[in-house]
Amino acid sequence: MTKNFFFGNSYLDYKFPEPQYLGAKYIHRGWIASFIPEEVHVALDAFGGSQSIAYMMKQLGKRTITNDFMSFNYQIGKALIENTGSVLSPKDVELLFSANSNPKEYNLMELLFSDLFFTREEAAFADSFRSNVVRLENPYKQSLALAIMCRSMTRKVTMGHFAHTQALIYAADPARVKRNRSLVRPLRELFLELLPQYNAAVFDNLEDNVSYNVNILDLLPRLDGVDLVYFDPPYCNSHADYQSFYHLLETFVEYWKDKQFVNGTKRYEPKRYCGFDKNSEAIDNLRLMFELSVKIPIWLVSYNDRSYPDIDTMYSLIEPFRNVKIERKTYQAGRGGKGSVAGSSEVLLICTTK
Ligand SMILES: C[S@@+](CC[C@H](N)C(=O)[O-])C[C@H]1O[C@@H](n2cnc3c(N)ncnc32)[C@H](O)[C@@H]1O
Repeated sequence: MTKNFFFGNSYLDYKFPEPQYLGAKYIHRGWIASFIPEEVHVALDAFGGSQSIAYMMKQLGKRTITNDFMSFNYQIGKALIENTGSVLSPKDVELLFSANSNPKEYNLMELLFSDLFFTREEAAFADSFRSNVVRLENPYKQSLALAIMCRSMTRKVTMGHFAHTQALIYAADPARVKRNRSLVRPLRELFLELLPQYNAAVFDNLEDNVSYNVNILDLLPRLDGVDLVYFDPPYCNSHADYQSFYHLLETFVEYWKDKQFVNGTKRYEPKRYCGFDKNSEAIDNLRLMFELSVKIPIWLVSYNDRSYPDIDTMYSLIEPFRNVKIERKTYQAGRGGKGSVAGSSEVLLICTTK
């Protein structure tokens, strides 16, 4: 019996709740899994995002370490990767949906996003929900509640991100609502619909999995004993600025007290330092990231045809450290997220010790 079988049931029977996240590799998870050798025990998802690849690693029975510098992604990692069994009960939901436990403290969503992304009533509901998250009895339940509410918010907003100001205009357009009824459904209803999928996705693979929330350049020097790392960094030219696209979720989770909220979308400022989203820094930081990974034997690097730096540059950055084999999967349709135009291809660089 291999490690990813438990009482005759494969961990592969668990289902990751389908994400809507720019650059998510959810639809490529089976393909990427085929490049993870059986003997790998500890696997790191360095840029976890929606956590769909970290979840696949957990399903394969690996000790999974995941990381993302955005807190709302870290919460998904805590809820579905690190968490071994805490789920939300009907009593927890009753608590989450109860009145705002501290309206003076918890009013940020209403102040910032009323009549922008949500009606005032919905924004106030988000605040009261957030005020009650902290009353849940353990951190995993709290993470699960945050993860499900963040997903509910992306379902409710056109295009599933917050870098535009069209949310309420589109929600008033009958043709759009006909195509996507979630635009007019209350957050409460969306949450209740998603809840069983998230609860059912929580499982224990009998490994000590962990979710981190730091810049990968700071995390790599702290890790030992990792057998394989998966890198799916943001690439310049293709939606690299995740803080602009998902600022609302980050504000909801962090509940910032020390930020300014700028421009039409009320994005927080200053942003966290990323290091991979500007052409001027990307190459130096990719090189540094590879240097910091020399102790990890296998690297899998996701890449899209239309990214910066180009594939030859990527190859030349990795080549001093590892043998590189390039694998390609051609998109059938434009459904792969970041840069996923039909006919373009998803690339995986398989990097092994020389
Ligand atoms: C292409 S997405 C990863 C998508 C992920 N593989 C999935 O399936 O959802 C890149 C992620 O890197 C995160 N990120 C950007 N800069 C980072 C940094 N310096 N350290 C850690 N995470 C970072 C972003 O928040 C974003 O979630």
